[in-house]
Amino acid sequence: MDAREMKIKAAEAALSHVEDGMRLGIGTGSTADEFVRLLAEKVAGGFRIQGVPTSERTARLCLELGVPLKSLDELPELDLTIDGADEIDPQLRLIKGAGGALLREKIVACASARMIVIADETKVVDILGAFKLPIEVNAFGLVATRHAIEKLAARLGLSGDIVVREASDGPYMTDGGHLILDASFGRIPDADALSRELNAVPGVVEHGLFINIASLAIIAGPSGARVLE
Ligand code: 5RP
Repeated sequence: MDAREMKIKAAEAALSHVEDGMRLGIGTGSTADEFVRLLAEKVAGGFRIQGVPTSERTARLCLELGVPLKSLDELPELDLTIDGADEIDPQLRLIKGAGGALLREKIVACASARMIVIADETKVVDILGAFKLPIEVNAFGLVATRHAIEKLAARLGLSGDIVVREASDGPYMTDGGHLILDASFGRIPDADALSRELNAVPGVVEHGLFINIASLAIIAGPSGARVLE
């Protein structure tokens, strides 16, 4: 099974948790895209859902494929969010945000009664941090905010480069008009403490540590899909 087939397997398994009439948060990324494609087939067959997209990219794909969308303001309480992740630890703590959608992803997931993560085996880790941690920041005071993050990281025994994410035409801008700092800590032994400390920095809009948010993860490997909860 290649990487795409594993993503499709995880997305298929997640689709079985979606019930007719649900208000659904729809994630961002290549795995979430596979879920959208399968969901669109169900919708074409008469299945009724109302989707809230976690990014402009996902909104475009949903509209192209005929998945009905609402804004989160129209549907502020959701039944379920299905989304991908960059890393998943045994406590279902996540790193998210490689696709730059972490802020809307976290808002939508937290407005949902449940969040199901879909991923392939490569995303499962014992300790978070090998993947760069995305930190969405306000452009105002960028240097001061980065210093504040470096200082709190040092207090927690973390070090590594913290760099502004770049796009082909300059600094990467999120859907919310913010910048992203990617922090290469390597290992984050106390993700809960790091999350709390980052939340206390005024220039930090949001960060990619998702703690106590995911309800279950569907992990696809070469021999099929398994559930982490
Ligand atoms: C986007 C995300 C994605 O869910 C995460 O990057 C996983 O993406 P993919 O399924 O393409 O590996 O957090 O902000």
